Amino acid sequence: MIQKAAEILESSKSLFVLTGAGISAESGIPTFRGTDGLWKNYSATDLATPEAFEKNPELVWEWYHWRQGIILKAEPNPAHFAVAELEKKFNNFLLLTQNVDNLHRRAGSKKVLELHGNIFRARCLSCGRIVHHQIEPGKEINNLPKCDCEGLLRPDIVWFGEQIPQDIWQASLEFLSAADTSIICGTSGIVWPAAAIPEMAKKNRAKIIEINLEPTPISSIVDVSILGKAGEILPLIIQTLNTNI
Ligand code: OAD
Repeated sequence: MIQKAAEILESSKSLFVLTGAGISAESGIPTFRGTDGLWKNYSATDLATPEAFEKNPELVWEWYHWRQGIILKAEPNPAHFAVAELEKKFNNFLLLTQNVDNLHRRAGSKKVLELHGNIFRARCLSCGRIVHHQIEPGKEINNLPKCDCEGLLRPDIVWFGEQIPQDIWQASLEFLSAADTSIICGTSGIVWPAAAIPEMAKKNRAKIIEINLEPTPISSIVDVSILGKAGEILPLIIQTLNTNI
Protein backbone atom coordinates (compact mmCIF):
# COMPACT_ATOMS: atom_id res chain seq x y z
CA MET A 1 0.00 0.00 0.00
CA ILE A 2 2.86 2.37 0.87
CA GLN A 3 4.50 1.49 -2.46
CA LYS A 4 1.24 2.10 -4.35
CA ALA A 5 0.76 5.48 -2.63
CA ALA A 6 4.33 6.44 -3.53
CA GLU A 7 3.76 5.44 -7.17
CA ILE A 8 0.62 7.57 -7.35
CA LEU A 9 2.51 10.56 -5.96
CA GLU A 10 5.41 10.01 -8.35
CA SER A 11 3.06 10.29 -11.32
CA SER A 12 1.24 13.37 -9.93
CA LYS A 13 1.74 16.99 -10.87
CA SER A 14 -0.54 18.64 -8.33
CA LEU A 15 -1.33 17.52 -4.82
CA PHE A 16 -4.25 18.45 -2.56
CA VAL A 17 -4.03 17.41 1.09
CA LEU A 18 -6.96 17.42 3.53
CA THR A 19 -6.20 16.86 7.20
CA GLY A 20 -8.27 16.44 10.35
CA ALA A 21 -7.76 16.01 14.06
CA GLY A 22 -6.13 12.57 13.62
CA ILE A 23 -2.95 14.13 12.23
CA SER A 24 -2.42 15.98 15.51
CA ALA A 25 -3.34 13.01 17.73
CA GLU A 26 0.30 11.87 17.99
CA SER A 27 1.16 15.37 19.21
CA GLY A 28 -1.11 14.69 22.20
CA ILE A 29 -4.06 16.77 21.01
CA PRO A 30 -7.39 15.01 21.50
CA THR A 31 -9.54 14.25 18.44
CA PHE A 32 -13.27 14.94 18.46
CA ARG A 33 -14.81 11.52 17.87
CA GLY A 34 -13.88 8.02 19.02
CA THR A 35 -13.49 6.67 22.56
CA ASP A 36 -11.34 9.50 23.95
CA GLY A 37 -12.74 12.16 21.62
CA LEU A 38 -13.65 15.62 22.92
CA TRP A 39 -17.29 15.19 21.89
CA LYS A 40 -17.52 12.09 24.13
CA ASN A 41 -16.82 14.17 27.23
CA TYR A 42 -17.97 17.64 26.24
CA SER A 43 -21.16 18.83 24.61
CA ALA A 44 -20.74 20.53 21.24
CA THR A 45 -24.11 22.23 21.81
CA ASP A 46 -22.86 23.82 25.04
CA LEU A 47 -19.42 24.79 23.74
CA ALA A 48 -19.25 25.15 19.98
CA THR A 49 -22.33 27.02 18.78
CA PRO A 50 -23.11 30.76 18.58
CA GLU A 51 -26.06 30.12 20.95
CA ALA A 52 -23.73 28.55 23.52
CA PHE A 53 -21.47 31.62 23.41
CA GLU A 54 -24.44 33.95 23.77
CA LYS A 55 -25.69 32.00 26.77
CA ASN A 56 -22.41 31.41 28.56
CA PRO A 57 -19.35 33.12 27.04
CA GLU A 58 -17.31 32.42 30.20
CA LEU A 59 -17.76 28.65 29.81
CA VAL A 60 -16.98 28.72 26.10
CA TRP A 61 -13.81 30.79 26.62
CA GLU A 62 -12.77 28.53 29.50
CA TRP A 63 -12.96 25.53 27.18
CA TYR A 64 -11.02 27.20 24.34
CA HIS A 65 -8.38 28.48 26.75
CA TRP A 66 -8.02 24.95 28.17
CA ARG A 67 -7.55 23.61 24.63
CA GLN A 68 -5.03 26.37 23.90
CA GLY A 69 -3.06 25.19 26.96
CA ILE A 70 -2.91 21.62 25.58
CA ILE A 71 -1.89 22.85 22.12
CA LEU A 72 0.78 25.21 23.46
CA LYS A 73 2.47 22.27 25.19
CA ALA A 74 2.33 20.17 22.00
CA GLU A 75 4.87 19.94 19.18
CA PRO A 76 4.28 19.10 15.52
CA ASN A 77 4.78 15.37 14.91
CA PRO A 78 6.40 13.51 11.97
CA ALA A 79 3.10 13.61 10.04
CA HIS A 80 3.01 17.44 10.09
CA PHE A 81 6.65 17.54 8.97
CA ALA A 82 5.94 15.03 6.21
CA VAL A 83 3.13 17.23 4.85
CA ALA A 84 5.50 20.22 4.88
CA GLU A 85 8.03 18.07 3.01
CA LEU A 86 5.43 17.15 0.37
CA GLU A 87 4.75 20.86 -0.18
CA LYS A 88 8.43 21.28 -1.12
CA LYS A 89 8.23 18.41 -3.61
CA PHE A 90 5.18 19.71 -5.48
CA ASN A 91 5.04 23.05 -7.26
CA ASN A 92 1.28 22.70 -7.29
CA PHE A 93 0.27 22.03 -3.73
CA LEU A 94 -2.51 22.97 -1.34
CA LEU A 95 -3.15 21.86 2.22
CA LEU A 96 -6.65 22.33 3.59
CA THR A 97 -6.90 21.57 7.29
CA GLN A 98 -9.92 21.29 9.53
CA ASN A 99 -7.59 21.71 12.50
CA VAL A 100 -7.37 24.94 14.44
CA ASP A 101 -4.12 24.13 16.27
CA ASN A 102 -1.57 25.83 13.98
CA LEU A 103 0.70 22.76 14.06
CA HIS A 104 0.97 22.55 10.26
CA ARG A 105 2.43 26.07 10.13
CA ARG A 106 4.74 25.31 13.04
CA ALA A 107 6.00 22.32 11.03
CA GLY A 108 6.81 24.56 8.06
CA SER A 109 3.70 24.32 5.87
CA LYS A 110 3.13 27.54 3.94
CA LYS A 111 0.40 26.78 1.42
CA VAL A 112 -2.14 25.99 4.12
CA LEU A 113 -5.77 27.05 4.40
CA GLU A 114 -7.68 26.64 7.65
CA LEU A 115 -11.30 25.69 7.04
CA HIS A 116 -12.48 25.90 10.66
CA GLY A 117 -10.48 28.91 11.86
CA ASN A 118 -7.59 29.13 14.29
CA ILE A 119 -7.69 28.75 18.05
CA PHE A 120 -5.11 31.53 18.50
CA ARG A 121 -7.33 34.13 16.84
CA ALA A 122 -10.32 35.98 18.25
CA ARG A 123 -12.92 38.13 16.54
CA CYS A 124 -14.65 41.21 17.94
CA LEU A 125 -18.42 40.88 17.99
CA SER A 126 -18.76 44.69 17.78
CA CYS A 127 -16.23 45.89 15.21
CA GLY A 128 -15.35 42.58 13.50
CA ARG A 129 -11.61 43.02 14.03
CA ILE A 130 -9.57 39.83 14.13
CA VAL A 131 -6.80 39.72 16.73
CA HIS A 132 -4.14 37.30 17.92
CA HIS A 133 -5.32 35.82 21.20
CA GLN A 134 -3.18 33.49 23.28
CA ILE A 135 -3.21 32.58 26.95
CA GLU A 136 -0.12 32.81 29.09
CA PRO A 137 0.28 29.29 30.51
CA GLY A 138 -0.14 29.23 34.27
CA LYS A 139 -1.72 32.70 34.41
CA GLU A 140 -5.35 32.74 35.41
CA ILE A 141 -7.82 34.63 33.24
CA ASN A 142 -10.59 36.28 35.18
CA ASN A 143 -12.23 38.53 32.62
CA LEU A 144 -13.81 37.89 29.28
CA PRO A 145 -11.44 38.86 26.45
CA LYS A 146 -12.27 42.32 25.07
CA CYS A 147 -11.28 44.18 21.92
CA ASP A 148 -9.65 47.65 21.98
CA CYS A 149 -13.11 48.98 21.08
CA GLU A 150 -14.43 47.31 24.28
CA GLY A 151 -16.49 44.84 22.23
CA LEU A 152 -16.61 41.21 23.32
CA LEU A 153 -14.13 38.91 21.56
CA ARG A 154 -15.14 35.39 20.50
CA PRO A 155 -12.89 32.54 19.33
CA ASP A 156 -12.31 32.82 15.56
CA ILE A 157 -13.53 29.26 15.07
CA VAL A 158 -16.30 28.03 12.80
CA TRP A 159 -18.96 26.71 15.15
CA PHE A 160 -21.78 24.29 14.40
CA GLY A 161 -24.49 26.03 12.42
CA GLU A 162 -22.09 28.69 11.07
CA GLN A 163 -20.90 29.19 7.53
CA ILE A 164 -17.35 28.27 6.70
CA PRO A 165 -15.17 31.06 5.21
CA GLN A 166 -16.32 31.21 1.59
CA ASP A 167 -13.01 32.54 0.22
CA ILE A 168 -11.15 29.57 1.69
CA TRP A 169 -13.72 27.09 0.45
CA GLN A 170 -13.74 28.55 -3.06
CA ALA A 171 -9.93 28.59 -3.26
CA SER A 172 -9.89 24.95 -2.12
CA LEU A 173 -12.45 23.89 -4.71
CA GLU A 174 -10.58 25.70 -7.44
CA PHE A 175 -7.35 23.93 -6.56
CA LEU A 176 -9.12 20.60 -6.11
CA SER A 177 -10.68 20.80 -9.57
CA ALA A 178 -7.20 20.74 -11.13
CA ALA A 179 -5.42 18.44 -8.67
CA ASP A 180 -4.58 14.97 -9.92
CA THR A 181 -4.04 13.50 -6.45
CA SER A 182 -5.55 14.01 -3.01
CA ILE A 183 -4.33 12.77 0.35
CA ILE A 184 -7.02 12.59 3.03
CA CYS A 185 -5.41 12.14 6.42
CA GLY A 186 -6.77 11.77 9.95
CA THR A 187 -10.33 12.85 9.41
CA SER A 188 -13.52 10.93 10.16
CA GLY A 189 -14.86 12.36 6.91
CA ILE A 190 -18.31 13.11 8.26
CA VAL A 191 -18.28 16.87 8.88
CA TRP A 192 -19.53 18.95 5.98
CA PRO A 193 -18.42 20.53 3.76
CA ALA A 194 -14.97 18.87 4.09
CA ALA A 195 -16.76 15.51 3.87
CA ALA A 196 -17.67 16.33 0.25
CA ILE A 197 -14.05 16.65 -0.86
CA PRO A 198 -13.30 12.97 -1.59
CA GLU A 199 -16.38 12.66 -3.84
CA MET A 200 -15.44 15.87 -5.65
CA ALA A 201 -11.88 14.65 -6.16
CA LYS A 202 -13.24 11.35 -7.47
CA LYS A 203 -15.51 13.15 -9.94
CA ASN A 204 -12.44 14.99 -11.23
CA ARG A 205 -10.77 11.59 -11.73
CA ALA A 206 -8.12 12.38 -9.15
CA LYS A 207 -6.38 9.57 -7.31
CA ILE A 208 -7.14 9.50 -3.58
CA ILE A 209 -4.89 8.18 -0.82
CA GLU A 210 -6.47 7.88 2.62
CA ILE A 211 -4.50 7.52 5.84
CA ASN A 212 -6.45 6.75 8.99
CA LEU A 213 -6.31 4.44 12.00
CA GLU A 214 -9.57 2.86 10.87
CA PRO A 215 -11.83 2.66 7.80
CA THR A 216 -14.10 5.69 7.31
CA PRO A 217 -17.19 6.38 5.17
CA ILE A 218 -14.86 7.49 2.35
CA SER A 219 -12.59 4.41 2.40
CA SER A 220 -14.76 2.62 -0.17
CA ILE A 221 -14.14 5.25 -2.86
CA VAL A 222 -10.42 5.89 -2.39
CA ASP A 223 -7.66 4.33 -4.51
CA VAL A 224 -5.41 3.49 -1.58
CA SER A 225 -6.54 3.22 2.03
CA ILE A 226 -3.69 2.84 4.49
CA LEU A 227 -4.64 1.95 8.03
CA GLY A 228 -2.13 3.19 10.56
CA LYS A 229 -0.75 6.20 12.37
CA ALA A 230 -0.25 9.28 10.22
CA GLY A 231 3.08 9.97 11.97
CA GLU A 232 4.40 6.61 10.79
CA ILE A 233 2.70 6.21 7.39
CA LEU A 234 3.38 9.65 5.87
CA PRO A 235 7.15 9.59 6.56
CA LEU A 236 7.26 6.02 5.15
CA ILE A 237 5.57 7.18 1.93
CA ILE A 238 8.11 9.99 1.60
CA GLN A 239 11.03 7.61 2.16
CA THR A 240 9.64 5.37 -0.58
CA LEU A 241 9.34 8.19 -3.13
CA ASN A 242 11.91 8.52 -5.86
CA THR A 243 14.02 11.48 -4.76
CA ASN A 244 13.07 13.82 -7.58
CA ILE A 245 9.43 13.93 -8.39
P1 OAD B 1 -12.55 13.43 14.19
O1 OAD B 1 -12.26 13.39 15.63
O2 OAD B 1 -13.98 13.36 13.76
O3 OAD B 1 -11.80 12.25 13.45
C1 OAD B 1 -10.45 12.00 13.67
C2 OAD B 1 -10.04 10.87 12.75
O4 OAD B 1 -8.65 10.68 12.88
C3 OAD B 1 -10.71 9.54 13.04
O5 OAD B 1 -11.21 8.98 11.84
C4 OAD B 1 -9.57 8.68 13.63
O6 OAD B 1 -9.70 7.30 13.28
C5 OAD B 1 -8.37 9.29 12.95
N1 OAD B 1 -7.10 9.17 13.71
C6 OAD B 1 -6.90 9.26 15.04
N2 OAD B 1 -5.60 9.17 15.35
C7 OAD B 1 -4.93 9.03 14.18
C8 OAD B 1 -3.56 8.89 13.82
N3 OAD B 1 -2.58 8.88 14.73
N4 OAD B 1 -3.26 8.76 12.50
C9 OAD B 1 -4.22 8.76 11.55
N5 OAD B 1 -5.54 8.88 11.85
C10 OAD B 1 -5.89 9.03 13.12
O7 OAD B 1 -11.83 14.74 13.62
P2 OAD B 1 -12.12 15.55 12.28
O8 OAD B 1 -12.46 14.63 11.17
O9 OAD B 1 -11.00 16.48 12.10
O10 OAD B 1 -14.82 21.06 14.01
O11 OAD B 1 -13.41 16.36 12.68
C11 OAD B 1 -13.89 17.35 11.82
C12 OAD B 1 -14.43 18.52 12.63
O12 OAD B 1 -15.38 18.05 13.58
C13 OAD B 1 -13.39 19.22 13.45
O13 OAD B 1 -12.66 20.19 12.72
C14 OAD B 1 -14.19 19.88 14.54
C15 OAD B 1 -15.18 18.78 14.83
O14 OAD B 1 -16.42 19.18 15.29
C16 OAD B 1 -14.90 22.17 14.77
O15 OAD B 1 -14.62 22.19 15.94
C17 OAD B 1 -15.36 23.37 14.05
